Amino acid sequence: MKKLIINGQHELTGEIKISGAKNSVVALIPAAILSDDNVTLYNVPNISDTLALIDIIKLLNGKVEYENETMKIDTSQIENKVVPENLSKKLRASYYFMGALLGKFHYAEIYFPGGCNIGSRPIDFHINGFKKLGAEVTIEGNKYIFKANKLKGARIYLDFASVGATINIMLAAVKAEGTTYISNAAKEPEIVNIASLLNNMGAKISGAGTSEIKIEGVNHLHSGVIDVIPDRIEAGTYTIIGALLGKNLKISGIIEEHIDALLSKLKEMGVDMIIDDNDIIINHPKEYKPINVKTLVFPGFATDLGQPMSVLLTQADGMSIFEETIYENRMGHIKYLQKMGANIRVNDRTAIIIGKTPLKGEEVVATDLRAGAAMVIAGLIAKGTTTVNEIDHILRGYENIVEKLQNVGADIKTIEE
Ligand code: EPZ
Repeated sequence: MKKLIINGQHELTGEIKISGAKNSVVALIPAAILSDDNVTLYNVPNISDTLALIDIIKLLNGKVEYENETMKIDTSQIENKVVPENLSKKLRASYYFMGALLGKFHYAEIYFPGGCNIGSRPIDFHINGFKKLGAEVTIEGNKYIFKANKLKGARIYLDFASVGATINIMLAAVKAEGTTYISNAAKEPEIVNIASLLNNMGAKISGAGTSEIKIEGVNHLHSGVIDVIPDRIEAGTYTIIGALLGKNLKISGIIEEHIDALLSKLKEMGVDMIIDDNDIIINHPKEYKPINVKTLVFPGFATDLGQPMSVLLTQADGMSIFEETIYENRMGHIKYLQKMGANIRVNDRTAIIIGKTPLKGEEVVATDLRAGAAMVIAGLIAKGTTTVNEIDHILRGYENIVEKLQNVGADIKTIEE
């Protein structure tokens, strides 16, 4: 079992380069199979989710070359096969093969997806969208079967601006007959990244990044090329670490408008940052003002940054309120912060955090990906040694996190026990 050992309270100085976005690449790789030729992705992060999706592409007879963050996928011989449970279970984003296989072959058989245990995470919006396009959906045990004689463009309204449903419906609609409109679509930057690849392959998608997306069906999608956008959640996580321990710490390769909400809340706390093009230079202040954080869909405060942010709030002088509105259960990290000395009271999806409380190193567990990030942040500021267990969750979403932190002075290492 892999663990992280962290000795806290080291100031961090130097440069952290942000990698390609996990939540983009996990949709771009399945989207690639819609090409009748090949697709090249640049800036692909080497994380376990990427490797899990390569396995599915290879199962479907796609050829993959992946080195130095560049991935070339030959999709000219892609075959339609059942995506087995041992692969689909590895991550939630395996569900993008539903839309991609349905869009390409009008048929898909795929076992239920996996993903962090942060809520029930149904996929009813995806299913309803596929049905509106003309697909029949049946469930056999833990397996979905999607089939359509043909896919016809439709008007689809999303009850909630779901990232996954918006992308999956786009993948199923891009070769449908006629035009599809998605209303109340998610506006996250990842949606724009996927639409850009599909348009580069010859699709006709407009409005990505707004709540109204129009997709005019085309018959053929040729080869495509795309740069994976920087990971805004990784960037936000390291910016929060910089707010706590940075001394001229440079976070490079970010897109400022993708983390506007976070930067605005950090400024409200009294954190000064120099933002210069695609870099942030950050020096941690001596004290932090308490604030309220409420997670929302983009461009609101990202739900994936709520857990990391709650660690910073334990160091603010006074009462802060952290409210999670997107998922039912993103408080898995709180009991470990309390074990380390934080003063937090949780009521359903709201945490009342009273600071400033010094944290002490403890044995903790990464209950999900972003809770794991919160444990790393807590270990970095705690007095003494913190051991983080079940770190596979963390390695799914943060490329080379140990090396990136060691390079700026953190005392952190991985051990195998
Ligand atoms: C994506 O998940 C991200 N994952 C999540 O990041 C992120 O938190 C989320 O978007 C919101 O930004 C990937 O991109 C792989 P949603 P997704 O559909 O698509 C409910 C991380 O840490 N819902 O916008 O699953 C759902 O249960 C991960 O990197 C339905 O009820 O998010 C949730 O409460 C965690 N029915 C809410 O909507 C549906 O059909 C938002 O889900 C779909 C979603």
